[in-house]
Amino acid sequence: MNDQPKGIKEGLEKWRECRCQMKDRDFRFETVSGMEVKDLYTPLDIEDLDYERDLGFPGEYPFTRGVYRNMYRGRLWTMRQFAGFATAKESNKRYKYLLEKGQTGLSVAFDMPTIMGYDSDHPRSLGEVGRVGVAIDSLQDMETLFDGIPLDKVSTSMTINAPAAVIWCMYIATGEKQGVRPEKLTGTIQNDILKEYIAQKSWIFPPEPSMRLITDIFAYASRHVPKWNTISISGYHIREAGSTAVQELAFTLADGFAYVEAGIKAGLNVDDFAPRLSFFFNAHIDFFEEIAKYRAARRIWARRMKEKYGAKDPRSWLLRFHTQTAGCSLTAQQPENNIVRTAYEALAAVLGGTQSLHTNSMDEVLALPTEKAVQIALRTQQILAYETGVANVIDPLAGSYYVEALTNKMEEEAEKYFEEIEKRGGVLACIEQNFFQQEIADAAYRYQRALDSKQRILVGVNEFVNPDEKLEIEILKIDPKIEQEQVARLQKLRRERDNIRVRETLEALRRACEGTENVIPYILDCVRAYATEGEIIQVMREVFGEYKEKPTF
Ligand code: 3HC
Repeated sequence: MNDQPKGIKEGLEKWRECRCQMKDRDFRFETVSGMEVKDLYTPLDIEDLDYERDLGFPGEYPFTRGVYRNMYRGRLWTMRQFAGFATAKESNKRYKYLLEKGQTGLSVAFDMPTIMGYDSDHPRSLGEVGRVGVAIDSLQDMETLFDGIPLDKVSTSMTINAPAAVIWCMYIATGEKQGVRPEKLTGTIQNDILKEYIAQKSWIFPPEPSMRLITDIFAYASRHVPKWNTISISGYHIREAGSTAVQELAFTLADGFAYVEAGIKAGLNVDDFAPRLSFFFNAHIDFFEEIAKYRAARRIWARRMKEKYGAKDPRSWLLRFHTQTAGCSLTAQQPENNIVRTAYEALAAVLGGTQSLHTNSMDEVLALPTEKAVQIALRTQQILAYETGVANVIDPLAGSYYVEALTNKMEEEAEKYFEEIEKRGGVLACIEQNFFQQEIADAAYRYQRALDSKQRILVGVNEFVNPDEKLEIEILKIDPKIEQEQVARLQKLRRERDNIRVRETLEALRRACEGTENVIPYILDCVRAYATEGEIIQVMREVFGEYKEKPTF
């Protein structure tokens, strides 16, 4: 008995001596981002952890354990499936299907012409109308999209960036048509142009006018649409482009800091717009890395907002976020396996304290989801919420030696990137230098090499494959006829609307863009006159110009 170790330190050394005699299996013990992980974590790994300083209580600074005091005991996360395809009529049917199946928030996916600011009858839209999302050309389409869905009863997210101001104004005008005043509207526009330059690449205007549009939205919303989340600062696409979890965390928060600085520079009081900034993260397949990422994100954001930006309103310190399970983790091979991957990823998002969640459908790696596939994806969330018990206890993994050590590690690594970004002159300078893009490309290359060398196993792809596999699941097909339908409806609108009024509002918008006024009221007038998205964006293109990325090799 006298060889009992005195304390953990000695005990660990003793354990290590015995343990090292045991051979490990041939496997790379690291996170999906390539971060090495130890075989065992003990109190020694978090001996500096101070509960009050580093964790705090849920709903209290620094919010590591969650943004609300009672979290899912008070309200479950919003089940918000990203959806939209074909015409507004088709998508309206899908939204009603999802609401009827129990989803609790809407999330609009737009087609490429809408994302890039072209009308459905623009030559560049040929073959793309309604394919990867819903075709929205005017207020008329937006009214159809939400026909029979009362906008004061549902929160709607819209994944739109460069033309966000236009689509948002169409939504406000749709609310007016339904008799819902702007101050009653709840929802989010993604409106995050910086990650477009960094990762998704669906930009239109150069950075300066783009940031002006964003701060005009901040200003207009804080006065007229106070319950609207004006931006969804996104890490999702940065991760989908191949970044590590730390890069996703660091680059997303750095974008967030840049938007805060832009708002302050535009003369806004930080507490007037910061409470309505929101975030959007990926939930990738490495379970604990994702949970640590979200917990570190809340703590970093709260500390920076309070200490660096001087925000006084506790709502300004909150990092409220939506999560989408990782599209890039899905495989075309054995697609049913994606149901399992998505379930694990959704579990990580919930244990990480997400406010809103999209679970990918098993077929989403092949096409837009069928009704069957999206129902399974939604049921995955409902089983998580009502059967597993994980929503009953707030931040249940707190205090775990591994989770807290990994949360600290994520924060430390993110801080190193913040210093590097600062040194290089800030986010816009890093974009110009292709710094983010290069970091992401390098990470993606490392990941792919690990897969090719089978250091990383992807079930069904490089191990446990079914060589003579046939695709057995049903795939959603978009009828090419919808393009002509959409174009015919658009041209009919152009014939029947008051074109003098349209011209007047577009000219007033041009003058506002050339000046320094908030352009939102002018865009609102254009959409109310049924000017199309393409016509409005064209006026802005002529004034602001278009962004050209400097290619690097
Ligand atoms: N106690 C007290 N109040 C609570 C509570 C609790 N436990 N839980 C929630 N609430 C309150 C909140 O305070 C809020 O009220 P408020 O608006 O008056 O403050 C209300 O209940 C709703 O709660 P949340 O705001 O937390 O939840 P929402 O779902 O409404 O909002 C969000 C979540 C993250 C803040 C919001 O920005 C959001 O919904 N984002 C979604 C973004 C999205 O869906 N993006 C999809 C992009 S798809 C994409 O880009 C990928 C593609 O390109 C491939």
